[in-house]
Amino acid sequence: MDIKIVRNENPKVKPEASTLGFGKYFTDHMFIMDYTAGEGWHDARIVPFGKYEIHPASTALHYGSEIFEGLKAYRKADGSVQLFRPMENIRRMNRSAERLCLPTIPEDMALEILETFVGFEKDWTPSAEGTSLYIRPFMFGNDETLGVHAVHHATFMIILSPVGSYYAEGINPVKIMIEDTDVRAVRGGTGEAKCGGNYAASNRAGEKAAQQGYSQVLWLDGVERKYIEEVGAMNVMFKIAGEIVTPALVGSILPGITRKSCLELLRKEGYKVSERLLSIDELQAAMQNGTLEEAWGCGTAAVISPIGELAYKGKKYTVCGGKIGEITQHLYDTITGIQWGKREDTFGWTYPLK
Ligand code: PLP
Ligand code: COI
Repeated sequence: MDIKIVRNENPKVKPEASTLGFGKYFTDHMFIMDYTAGEGWHDARIVPFGKYEIHPASTALHYGSEIFEGLKAYRKADGSVQLFRPMENIRRMNRSAERLCLPTIPEDMALEILETFVGFEKDWTPSAEGTSLYIRPFMFGNDETLGVHAVHHATFMIILSPVGSYYAEGINPVKIMIEDTDVRAVRGGTGEAKCGGNYAASNRAGEKAAQQGYSQVLWLDGVERKYIEEVGAMNVMFKIAGEIVTPALVGSILPGITRKSCLELLRKEGYKVSERLLSIDELQAAMQNGTLEEAWGCGTAAVISPIGELAYKGKKYTVCGGKIGEITQHLYDTITGIQWGKREDTFGWTYPLK
């Protein structure tokens, strides 16, 4: 495909690895492509990173017609750069697009864009331990009219951000509050799509949790407020009396790629793993009688994140003595080992960039 390139004549100084944090710095360029009904995708371009002009009536600004993805480029010890399961992100983005009546992007086209653009900016992939180049593709409805309908114009963009760890805690256990009032998503809604609205719906509970010293919220299902769903930016897994349990993908949970990778890895290694309904009552009982052995979150930004404390209705429970558990550490070592090319990738998950 034809991708026009306008080079940035004023490249930035790259930030120090120790200052990275998450999503604060951006590379020198961004990718943009427009969609018009009847014409398809057009005007693919790599341009200097900067402000983007938008019509005040743009669909995204009024009706939340927006989806996004998140994946990373990792620098290996030999200096080369690789992606992790990029086709999974491309397929999930197209499923999100279908849910929100946004246009899909043919898979081979999306992969070519990703490879070309990330390859173009790959010098921005940091090399310090635990750092990577976070890739944020996103798409929004861009009709310049206030009518509510499936979009006729859309814009797809990719921005790139060199990152360190998502949580200030790094690999140290995080504290999570189980939310019993607000809900994030319901079956039949947009919970399994990666769309901005899900995150907007989460903010109030997130703020309340932060004020009480918690990193994020663990959501219960939107109908009965009974079943465990996921955390704001990651899926969750628990080890209860020897069984590794993660909530089943019932329609209101994001089908995480890190979740899928953990499940494939653990099953291959012979662990007992269940994707099933897990009620707050069962979890609370396990926390009280000591059978909750470990809890962790998993996501692209969050990587594998041990949970050291869970709070529910004012009660606090320490998990795994507030330390990282054995399975959590094993998943962290294996998944990050494959991502950064330190361990052999027997699954074929990595995708080297030219
Ligand atoms: N759940 C939510 C709500 C998320 O935002 C994310 C992050 O993308 C995840 C789960 C984990 O998904 P993945 O492993 O594909 O990054
Ligand atoms: C990711 O892990 O890629 C996410 O999208 C989480 C995000 C909300 C920071």
